[in-house]
Amino acid sequence: MWRPDFLFGAATAAYQIEGGVAEDGRHPSIWDTFSATPGKVLNGDTGVVACDHYHRWEEDLRHVEQLGLGAYRLSVSWSRVMDEAGAPNPRGLDFYKRLLDRLQERGLQSFVTLYHWDLPQCLQDRGGWLNRDTAGRFADYAALLARELRGRVSAWTTLNEPWCSAYLGHANGQHAPGLKRVRYAVEAMHHLLLGHGIATRVLRDLDKAPVGIVSNVNAVQPDSERPEDLQAARMAFACANSWVLDPVLLGRYPEALRELWPGIEPPLRDRDMDLIRTPLDYLGINYYFRATVRSDGAHGYLDRMRPGVERTQMGWEVYPEGLRDLLLGFKARYPRLPPIYITENGMASDDRVLDGRVDDAHRISYLGRHLAAVDEAMRGGVDVRGYFFWSLLDNFEWAYGYERRFGLIHVDYATQQRTLKDSALAVRDFLRRRREAAR
Ligand code: FCB
Repeated sequence: MWRPDFLFGAATAAYQIEGGVAEDGRHPSIWDTFSATPGKVLNGDTGVVACDHYHRWEEDLRHVEQLGLGAYRLSVSWSRVMDEAGAPNPRGLDFYKRLLDRLQERGLQSFVTLYHWDLPQCLQDRGGWLNRDTAGRFADYAALLARELRGRVSAWTTLNEPWCSAYLGHANGQHAPGLKRVRYAVEAMHHLLLGHGIATRVLRDLDKAPVGIVSNVNAVQPDSERPEDLQAARMAFACANSWVLDPVLLGRYPEALRELWPGIEPPLRDRDMDLIRTPLDYLGINYYFRATVRSDGAHGYLDRMRPGVERTQMGWEVYPEGLRDLLLGFKARYPRLPPIYITENGMASDDRVLDGRVDDAHRISYLGRHLAAVDEAMRGGVDVRGYFFWSLLDNFEWAYGYERRFGLIHVDYATQQRTLKDSALAVRDFLRRRREAAR
């Protein structure tokens, strides 16, 4: 079913797992500030300890290896590796060097994301992604990582899910830095994408490893066939998917956004679009659910909870066909679509350890059905090269704190004990069978 060179991996992100937030010269990121602000994160949870991965990384990498995965996707904490004046922090860099060396020794590929939402607070204090200069600072950071880590990294990712940074961080305030104006989101998105474009060129100049970006995408369904709901679905699709993919792959923002947000324009300058559409070596796709939307009576759309469908603990609808259809649709829409990796897919459930075991049959079923959807897209001609489970470990799920468990491996936060869930065992068996079949 899967080509032998199809890559299976698991993904994490720095702030969600590392802890050690004040160690070895790390300074605060916007997520330290945000999670310390009362009312922003469920139960007041923060990433201060998280999975204590900063100290337990060797054990965690052993799990990656023992599951039989071929790759590990991680992100670097910008605040750990660069000080507030922009100088390298050797102690922070050493952490990632040790980790990447270990992956290499074990024959595992590393997919390294530069930015998984944790902007240094000192840059936020100068305007963050609303300040065009942050794109330049991001390129400096990319250059530092390329110089320090080159040869150790299998693939670079500039940004993880710029939609979340821009929209959740600047329009609806659910994520750091917690701003709430659509205009801010549009400006932040432009500077994020500009930073992505410049950093892509910097990474490519300094290192040979492939460079890509990771975008989250949603399937979108209109609530009815009424023209206003069909229009709402077009708007929602443009916002969720085309807002990132069109500029990066076509060099323009979708027209629909002008209708959705009349009078709000990105702060475009002359060469910006050329930089933003710098060719990619691969595109990372994160997929979780389908949204159902209806008209808000004006230009926009409202999310509607479709009744009677299967959902996860996040309340997200389980809809594997959506992944297949999106991939086929992207192939049709984007002539320059590069090879694809599914860089995240998975689900949250209220997992508990009982007699040393975690029964997460729902996750096994979820993953199996999404893998089948990827397989169908590949049969339809989409060039998908790999798939990463979100996540290796239960971790700090942003505004939902530790309540939502996405891991293949259960983490008991009181003891930091790791327990392989049934899904991890199923993945291990599946990968073992696949290796045997390839012999
Ligand atoms: C994605 C994020 C990842 C994780 C999953 C559930 O949006 O990239 O960090 O939170 O959702």
